[in-house]
Amino acid sequence: MIPHSKPFLDNIELEKIIEVYKSGNIAVGKEIEEFEKKVANYVGKKYAVSTSSGTTAIHLLLYSMDIKKGDEVILPASVCPGVMHAIEYTGATPVIADINENNFNISVEYAKKIITDNTKAIIAPHMFGLPSDIDELIKLNIPIIEDCAQSIGAMYNSKKVGSFGYASIFSFYATKMFTSIDGGMILTDDEKLAKLLKDLRYYGGKRDYKLRFNYKLQNINAAVGLVQFEKLKSFLDERKMLANKYFDIFSSIKWLEVLNQVNEKKISSNYRFIIKIDREKKDFFENLCRKHKIALGDTIFEDLSLFASQYFKESLPNTQTLINYTYSFPLYPNINESGLKEFFKELLL
Ligand SMILES: Cc1ncc(COP(=O)(O)O)c(C=O)c1O
Repeated sequence: MIPHSKPFLDNIELEKIIEVYKSGNIAVGKEIEEFEKKVANYVGKKYAVSTSSGTTAIHLLLYSMDIKKGDEVILPASVCPGVMHAIEYTGATPVIADINENNFNISVEYAKKIITDNTKAIIAPHMFGLPSDIDELIKLNIPIIEDCAQSIGAMYNSKKVGSFGYASIFSFYATKMFTSIDGGMILTDDEKLAKLLKDLRYYGGKRDYKLRFNYKLQNINAAVGLVQFEKLKSFLDERKMLANKYFDIFSSIKWLEVLNQVNEKKISSNYRFIIKIDREKKDFFENLCRKHKIALGDTIFEDLSLFASQYFKESLPNTQTLINYTYSFPLYPNINESGLKEFFKELLL
C-alpha cells in the first residue's frame, strides 16, 4: 500500500523526545523558543509565536486583529474546514472566493469582486506548495494572511513564502512539510502584535484578567519540530526530485494534465502533485491506482455547495470544475518508489 501521505520520522526524533521527557520540561521549555527562532529566521520574519495547531494559529491571529462579529474574512474554496472554523470562532463571516483555473490558489479577480467595507482580512493559502499571486493580493489593500501550512520552503520572486503578508501562519501537523506531530506558528514583523499573540495564547501566570486561550505548543512537540526542521532542506530536495520524475512521466500522457505549475517567479514546495484527468479516463486511472494500492487524495476537501453554501455569494465555476477531475498523487520523502514502478509501467503501456 502506498498511503497518500506519511510522516518521515526516525530515531533522532525519538532520542529528542526521550531527552525532553526525562528533563521533565514536557510542556514548557527552551525548545519552544529555539524552534520559533529557527522558523522565523528561515522564513525571514522578525517574530514567531508557536501554537498548538494551524487552526489555533489562525484563530489567535484573527482574534488579536480584533476581527469579530459583523466582519468578513475572505478565503478560497480549496482550504480545509479548519481555516473556515478559525474565522467562525471569532464570530466573523467567512466569505469564500473561487480559485484559479489551473491551480487551487485564491483567484485575485474573484476576491476583488467580493470585497466589501466589512472585509478585514484575506487568508491566502499557497495550496499544495504553489505560491499564490502575492503581489496582486497585496495591491488589494486588505491585510493578507499567508497560510503556509503546505508551503514552507516555497519561493516567490526569490523570497520565501510567509515573508510577504501582514502575518503568516504555519501548520506542523503529521502530514505537513515537516512535523511537530501537531503544532502551528504565526510569523510577523509587528512587535506589538507578536507580544499580544504571546500573551493571549496561554492563560497561566498573568497578573491581570482578560479572555485568553490555551493554544500554546507543548515543549515536547517543539523538540520534535526542531529535529524535523533540520531535515527540511533534504525533504524539499527529495520532494523536488520526485516531482520532476512525476512530471516527466505524467506530462507524456495525452489525457492527463499536470496542474500547479511553477515558473521563474514561483517555486513550489511540492507538497502535493496535482493532476487533472479527462472525464473518459477517470475510471481507468482510479482503477489502476487501486490495483497498485496507491491511495489518491482529494484536491478539495468537500463539495462546498453541500457543506458551506451559506458562505459564498456567487457561483464558483473553477472550483466546481476542478473538484471533479483532479487528484492529488502521493508525493513525500521516503515514499516507496519501487511500489510506484509497476504502476508507471502499466500507465505508460
Ligand atoms: C492550508 C491549510 N491551512 C490550515 C490548516 C490547518 O492546520 P491544522 O491541521 O494544524 O490545524 C491546514 C491543515 O490541513 C491546511 O492544509
